[in-house]
Amino acid sequence: MTVVAEATTAAPTAVVGMVGGGQLAQMTQQAAIALGIELHVLSSRASDPAVQAGARHLAGSPDHLDDLLALAKESDVVTFDHENVPNEYLRKLVEAGHLVRPAPSAKLLAQDKSVARRVLGEAGFVVPNFVEVAAGDSAAIKRFAAVHGWPVMVKAPSGGYDGRGVREVAGAGDLADTDGLLASGRWLLEEKVAIATELAVLVARRPGGETVVYPVVETIQRGGICHELVMPARVPASVADEATALAVSIADRIDATGILAVELFLTVHGELVVNELAARPHNSGHATIDAAATSQFENHLRAVLDWPLGAPTLLVPAAATVNLLGPPVPIDLPRRARAALEDPTVHLHLYGKSYAPGRKLGHVTALADGADDALAAARAAAATLSAS
Ligand SMILES: Nc1ncnc2c1ncn2[C@@H]1O[C@H](COP(=O)(O)OP(=O)(O)O)[C@@H](O)[C@H]1O
Ligand SMILES: [Mg+2]
Repeated sequence: MTVVAEATTAAPTAVVGMVGGGQLAQMTQQAAIALGIELHVLSSRASDPAVQAGARHLAGSPDHLDDLLALAKESDVVTFDHENVPNEYLRKLVEAGHLVRPAPSAKLLAQDKSVARRVLGEAGFVVPNFVEVAAGDSAAIKRFAAVHGWPVMVKAPSGGYDGRGVREVAGAGDLADTDGLLASGRWLLEEKVAIATELAVLVARRPGGETVVYPVVETIQRGGICHELVMPARVPASVADEATALAVSIADRIDATGILAVELFLTVHGELVVNELAARPHNSGHATIDAAATSQFENHLRAVLDWPLGAPTLLVPAAATVNLLGPPVPIDLPRRARAALEDPTVHLHLYGKSYAPGRKLGHVTALADGADDALAAARAAAATLSAS
């Protein structure tokens, strides 16, 4: 067979540089293809999910300014699939004349939980009672508990995800265990909020301030890790409206660009409290791929390029997503895929990652006429996939 080389390939509509090549970048790449966008990802491994999906790979580290500059030079705009990149390097990219979206000042609030608490608290948003602790102040937990009571949530301000970096200290009796916990680094102590439901709101925002907002998502965590998501959240319309307005006003306040995910606690008293921000596509919005008129990944690209945004409307009454987290014993997800798809309402998304316990390997989303049915179908598919 003769292989005919095409003289030309279509020029991309734009080149977007993404710091990180994980599953969020992979799903962004899927959206990029349809828009004619070339996605370049900065990541350490050529086996990373986004590279497997056809994104151009720039081998490097987000901790190296030269690597970030190389990405910026070949891109129209630089954006992110995670938060772990030194903020001062992002400012250097901007000083060198590159477009970074979201801007470093907005990104910082997603990178540093202490800064987020301080800035949002000062701006009048309701945040948990908190205190920032310097290294070595080992009596800080006791002092905080004397004012705000037990338990005390001890958080690493940066670098944590999936509950890593969050520790609950139940009472004075547990303090011996935490000896050395505060010895080095900065810490954030906060009250344990009496949570009824956890919510997330995804806002897509263009540089000029135009926004679209997805229906509020209910997020179900176990051990600090998000396992399940229901869209729209099973909360009264008044709560959903309040959560939506809150998220938009935070996005405006910090001048976010791209997707901003606002994690909220709905307390047992019906109050909304701001938890954390993610300034990038977010796990809570995965159902938008199968259930919304425009996915969060597509709208992230459109927003950071300052293109018109797509409608965030749900095309079905309800959707639920279950994350496929590596169980303690190895499983063979691809082998079970066919069985999970017996239910025609189920959509499977595997990330092509090798198995490790607790690792996010993929997700399933089920579409239904009601939230409970969608969740039941997604759970059943996830159980089939995870069966040994
Ligand atoms: N102040 C708090 N009160 C009660 N639960 C909390 C508090 N902070 C965190 N949590 C629980 O821990 C989970 C993870 O905390 P979060 O700060 O969102 O860290 P991560 O970056 O790992 O997602 C939250 O989704 C929530 O279930
Ligand atoms: Mg969180």
